[in-house]
Amino acid sequence: MNWKVTLTDVTLGEEEALAAADVVRSGWLTQGERVAAFEADFAAMVGVPHAVAVNNCTVGLEVAYDAVGVVAGDEVVMPALTFVATANAARRLGATPVFADITTDDDLCVDPSDVLAKVTAKTRAVVLVHYAGFAADVAAVRAGLAAMGRADVAIVEDCAHAPGAGSRDGAARCGALGDVAAFSFFSNKNMTTGEGGMITTRSAELDRALRLLRAHGMTTTTWDRHRGHAFTYDVVRVATNARMDEIRAAIGRIQLGRLADANRRRGVVRGWYLDAIARRAEELEGLGIPFSAGHYGEGSQHLFVVLLPAGVDRAPVMASMRAAGVQTSVHYPPTHQFSAYADVPASLPRTDAVAARLLTLPLGPAITAAQVAIVIDALATALAAR
Ligand SMILES: Cc1ncc(COP(=O)(O)O)c(C=O)c1O
Repeated sequence: MNWKVTLTDVTLGEEEALAAADVVRSGWLTQGERVAAFEADFAAMVGVPHAVAVNNCTVGLEVAYDAVGVVAGDEVVMPALTFVATANAARRLGATPVFADITTDDDLCVDPSDVLAKVTAKTRAVVLVHYAGFAADVAAVRAGLAAMGRADVAIVEDCAHAPGAGSRDGAARCGALGDVAAFSFFSNKNMTTGEGGMITTRSAELDRALRLLRAHGMTTTTWDRHRGHAFTYDVVRVATNARMDEIRAAIGRIQLGRLADANRRRGVVRGWYLDAIARRAEELEGLGIPFSAGHYGEGSQHLFVVLLPAGVDRAPVMASMRAAGVQTSVHYPPTHQFSAYADVPASLPRTDAVAARLLTLPLGPAITAAQVAIVIDALATALAAR
């Protein structure tokens, strides 16, 4: 496909290539000192004492749920408007996802009061997704759980969209707001290692559990033994292998160095979109722009999502934009609508009301003002043709 504007752009340069080549030349590829350095750098960016690198965010979520004590039969409250990994990770531990609704058609993050309403005696954790890179209201959920006397319920942040994003009150960064958080470094994310992820926490106890759970429950690592710091090991938890390797850590450190600037540029692109849409307000009547009416803190601008005017059929709009060379997507078909979740009862009127209207327009640090004009032109043309 000959796109004029792709959904996002991957910004990798010579520095990443050299860093990866350096690792290959070093002869040590598996988790070692570069992973440790990447963890330290990432923890500093988020503002937490602990970061644990993993091979992707999906496994990171599973390890995080496991670390906070989610076991078979537990309930985990979470939004349905997220990537399916948020729920799959809970189900793979034998837990049941309990879906909560979005807040409004402006605030597409999960509604704190619906989360709290869905907490039962079986709830072990709640998961808040910083959808599109805008912080969910973690403080409201924490305050509500405390008021209910349920400080035993862990708060997990799904930060796949939110590296570098700030909380709503600007006091902290996403990844430092709950008990434990998982980030994604998949290729389409704000920073990438191809596949990869990071778990962050303030708790030394959770950090110990996370390190065991990402590496077979073993008490020492191959790297420890290579350096002569240990000769043997015990296995104290039944766990998986979720380790990151040195090549990805080396690339990740460079990407982390680019993150603040890339997020800032994404913010500029969002501004161009808002201006372009305002200029063509008449042609785009009924178009919703989530996260534009309230205060959501400094977002990481992962996605630019709009809501098509009510009643507009999305498929022909996407087809028309595709024909104009503009790639679009849908984030997300809500999890409760998938066949694999048909057995999970869910009443989510606000999620259902926006689901058919969601449309993701291209957003990335290298998108130009001219490309934004092409996208909005293609959208206006598609809407005019309906
Ligand atoms: C909200 C959310 N959670 C989890 C994930 C899973 O991340 P990964 O691809 O690193 O496993 C994604 C990735 O798209 C995501 O968007």
